[in-house]
Amino acid sequence: PVRRITAPQIAARKGGEPIVALTSYHAHTAQIVDRHADVILVGDSLGMVMHGMDSTVPVPLDLMIMHGRAVMRGSRRALVVVDLPFGAYEESPQAAFRSAVRVMKETGCGAVKLEGGARMADTIRFLVERGIPVMAHIGLTPQSSNTLGGFKTQGRDQDSWPRHEADAQAVAEAGAFAVVLEGMVEPLAARITAQIPIPTIGIGASAACDGQILVLEDMLGLNPTPPKFVKVYGALGPAIEEAVRAYADEVKSRAFPAEDHVYR
Ligand code: KIV
Ligand code: NA
Repeated sequence: PVRRITAPQIAARKGGEPIVALTSYHAHTAQIVDRHADVILVGDSLGMVMHGMDSTVPVPLDLMIMHGRAVMRGSRRALVVVDLPFGAYEESPQAAFRSAVRVMKETGCGAVKLEGGARMADTIRFLVERGIPVMAHIGLTPQSSNTLGGFKTQGRDQDSWPRHEADAQAVAEAGAFAVVLEGMVEPLAARITAQIPIPTIGIGASAACDGQILVLEDMLGLNPTPPKFVKVYGALGPAIEEAVRAYADEVKSRAFPAEDHVYR
């Protein structure tokens, strides 16, 4: 059996070969991503991508667990990290522990991720001390979009840098094995990456980070309006459109099913 990459192995990659991370919510895509990525994130972005929600705020813990199980079944090598959704961890370290234990036991994943810096440090420490590897997530934190007033790039105002740097220090000291930096200007991401002993994984946070992550459907070209920081590597939207159109035409013309597709 192939041994999975572990959270400590990812932590040890600080300053080394860049860490390759992608999201997956689904067994067949997990199988492909698993051949190339070190980390597969079952992100709560699945609420928007898979379920058409307007934000990640409504995503329930049970839904994260269902998709986490699918991704674990589809993969065998990558470290699978499952997002704790809004409401499942903020109330107390104990509440976070209960949610994280459900995720770990019911999916078999190797780590959880949660949003927040200094304010979540006690919770991160509580989980890590009890055997749960935690990936932190700072900068633009989509679960807080209602208090932040939308999705804004962080660190444009240099006065905010000390707060973000303190968040990064706090999650590292609390024992997080890595931290996602989302939606952050390059000089701030570079400063944080140089200052903390754990890997930074950037999304919209420049090549200064120790690794990168994107939402798979965004980089595959399935999102008709991708954010500026996304590089679109595939053209799945047009490819699916073309295939569906061809199928519809052939059903109407009775070209499908043909000889090969019929039981005689
Ligand atoms: O939910 C998600 O997909 C994420 C990544 C984009 C970091 O949190
Ligand atoms: Na997320």
